[in-house]
Formats: sequence, C-alpha cells, structure tokens
Amino acid sequence: MTDRDALKQAAGVQAAEWVDSGMVVGLGTGSTAIHAITAVGVRIAEGSLTGVVAIPTSKASADAAEELGIPLGSLADHPVIDLTIDGADEVDPDLRLIKGGGAALLHEKVVAQASLREVIVVDDAKCSERLGTRCALPVEVLAFGWRPESEYLDDLGADVTLRRGPYDEPLVTEEGNWILDAAFGPIADPERLAALLDRRAGVVAHGLFLGLATDLLVAGADGVEHRPAL
Ligand code: A5P
Repeated sequence: MTDRDALKQAAGVQAAEWVDSGMVVGLGTGSTAIHAITAVGVRIAEGSLTGVVAIPTSKASADAAEELGIPLGSLADHPVIDLTIDGADEVDPDLRLIKGGGAALLHEKVVAQASLREVIVVDDAKCSERLGTRCALPVEVLAFGWRPESEYLDDLGADVTLRRGPYDEPLVTEEGNWILDAAFGPIADPERLAALLDRRAGVVAHGLFLGLATDLLVAGADGVEHRPAL
C-alpha cells in the first residue's frame, strides 16, 4: 500500500466508525470510499454493526458491498439516507467539492442530496484554496447533445475533453451518458458556474457539489482531521 493509499484508508476507516446500527448508509465510489465500505463490512462481520441498509452510488460499490456482506437497499425503499460516506477530487475551505473522477457523479449527487449527513473522506492532496486548481470539472451530458454542451463549456472558458474508455471509445456512464472534463483552472465563483450549467438541457449533472458536504475527514501526516461544515 502506498503512503497516499494509507491516508485514504485512515480517513475511510474513521468515517466508518460514525455508522450506527440501524442506519441507512450511502456508499460512495472511488479509491477512498472503498476503504470506508470495507471497514463497514468488517464491522458487520464482527457484529458491532447491525441492521444497516446501504445505498451504493455505483455498480463497483454495490459489488464490493455485496462481497463484504453489507445488505443493500434502494432509494425507492429508503428515500432518506442517514449518513453517506464518499470521496472527492478536490475540496475547498468551505467544503465545496469537485467530484466525478470515477464517473459516478450523477448517482453520487442524488445520494448526497438525499442524505442527512454527507461525510467526505480525502487525503490532504485533495485540498485547495480554489476549486478547479487541481482537477478538471466533470460534466455528464446527454450523448445526443455532447457537442453543443462542449462548445458551451468552451465559451465559458474551459479546455474541454471528452472522457474516453479503455478502447478510446467515449466513456458511457451507468445512466448511458457521456462525460466532458472541463478544465477551467481556478474557479472564481463556483455557485455562478453551477447555475450556468444547471440551466442547460443537455447537462445531466456536473461535479460541483456545493453545500452538500456536512463533514470533511482529511487524512495527512499528522492523522485524520475532522472539519465540520460551518
Ligand atoms: C467518483 O465519481 C468520484 O466522485 C470519486 O468520489 C472521486 O473521484 C474520488 O475518488 P478517489 O477517492 O478514488 O480519489
């Protein structure tokens, strides 16, 4: 395990401690969230956690949970989630996020909006003063309209790339859409940009998660720091 992965694990394991018996738990996606999922599975196997139902944000997370013996449910049966644990690609000091590096942003945002508590687990390399500094913004678009949406993003000042899969084909999300990675550089006003994206019919979801994180667990050399949303 690399040092970075050890930090991801530390954050994920700590978040898993916040899960209580009987909770409906949202399971995020990615290389950090998987540590939380594993730790929840371990707690269930040990018997210290009972009566939990999990809502996964991707097939990968569902498969991992199933393998670990975590009972799965659906949003149809559990429209309110007590606590979700998810990763992020970039976090700013106000707990605003960029997500979607793993292409699961649409389900992640639906789950985050249904969650009473959204706990974000990251290693300290994900923190920045301004969103967009460290990564491009993933924008999930209808395949039908990908080109005009790409041009719209371009007009907003982004350097846009259509995300591709292993055979160089456009990557298809679990909802059958495509992803544009929009490199804006540091984003001066994330709320304004989110509003500009939200009004486009061809934009299904974007990776700006604003006002959704309730807690951040950041793992660094000195341990895991808890930053609650103010
Ligand atoms: C998945 O679509 C993403 O939002 C992930 O949560 C995000 O990319 C963080 O992933 P890692 O923990 O693998 O960096």
